[in-house]
Amino acid sequence: MTPSRPLRVGVIGPAGFGGSYLCVELLNRGHTVIGISRNPEKLGSHERYFPRPIDIDSVSFPSLAKHFEGIDVLVSEYGPHTAGADALLYMPFLETVRKIVLAVKLSEVKYFLFVGGAGSLHVPGTLESCVDHPDFFMAYRRAIATSEAHIVYMEERLGIMGTALRAYRDARFAEREGRATAEHQETIKEYEASIKAKDRATDFIKAGRTAYMFFDGNMSFKWSFVSPSALYRPGVRTGRYEVSVDDMVLVGEEQGGNIFEGRLTGISVADMAIAIADEVENEKLVGKHWSAWGDISEDKPSPAYLTLDSVDGGSTWK
Ligand SMILES: NC(=O)c1ccc[n+]([C@@H]2O[C@H](COP(=O)([O-])OP(=O)(O)OC[C@H]3O[C@@H](n4cnc5c(N)ncnc54)[C@H](OP(=O)(O)O)[C@@H]3O)[C@@H](O)[C@H]2O)c1
Repeated sequence: MTPSRPLRVGVIGPAGFGGSYLCVELLNRGHTVIGISRNPEKLGSHERYFPRPIDIDSVSFPSLAKHFEGIDVLVSEYGPHTAGADALLYMPFLETVRKIVLAVKLSEVKYFLFVGGAGSLHVPGTLESCVDHPDFFMAYRRAIATSEAHIVYMEERLGIMGTALRAYRDARFAEREGRATAEHQETIKEYEASIKAKDRATDFIKAGRTAYMFFDGNMSFKWSFVSPSALYRPGVRTGRYEVSVDDMVLVGEEQGGNIFEGRLTGISVADMAIAIADEVENEKLVGKHWSAWGDISEDKPSPAYLTLDSVDGGSTWK
């Protein structure tokens, strides 16, 4: 497909989870993609894909800005997940995002989209970020534990966090079906106690919500901050999504005193890539903190990372 306005789109983290699906979506739409990360060639090769290797942690922001030359729209899909569960930390994430923002401001990038996390979205009707609400993590872990696709994705990406979640899921199913052993009950008790004490992803998800402070109210560059909805995972590309601004979308009525329980929404990474590519092309959410959610009812495990084999004329790197 040739877009009416072919763009040169920079993607930071092109071979990561969101980044790899986004690069495939953009190339399939006929845009040129510049992949920026330590090993951007991991995504594969294509005549309209140009890898620009750089370790953001070890360069100055003026050097990073040089890597943004010739880019019309830049999307940050930077994240720590490919280094495993121990890399889900507060500190390096915020330092890196600060550097990216400074480099964007120095560069000639015309529009910068930052992909953050669901934790920055507001509890509906309030100004409180979901990550700061005491009920969020329990509802989140319970929701993702109902999905085989989400657990396969967690196992592929985060090792031990996925294994623990699968044990919890199996125990909850056994309980629901009336065949729970003492061991199942102990697994549920221990897992939920650990979530109540402190979910392992808390620090990183808080870093994502604090990253929004670099953007909120900032008129010094043109930005959009997108937080995928909470149950963001690999899955079916339906081609449909809904957008919300600032608030986390919750479905149904509150039950049992936990505002989030059974009400969280999600989106497949393929549909999220469509929403981001649409914004790259149409610029309808400039200066907004927004989210997209869609239909994830088909619980189908799919790969966490794509390569350019998925694009016409693309292949793995040679
Ligand atoms: N439900 C949710 O709200 C949700 C869920 C998942 C992710 N997210 C958010 O989405 C964003 C992207 O996360 P993701 O999981 O899609 O990405 P990811 O898989 O964690 O990684 C993206 C890429 O970042 C690159 N990277 C890491 N350190 C780098 C460095 N020092 N210099 C240059 N590149 C570096 C890596 O490429 P190289 O190895 O080639 O350097 C990696 O492939 C994050 O803000 C994350 O919080 C939100």
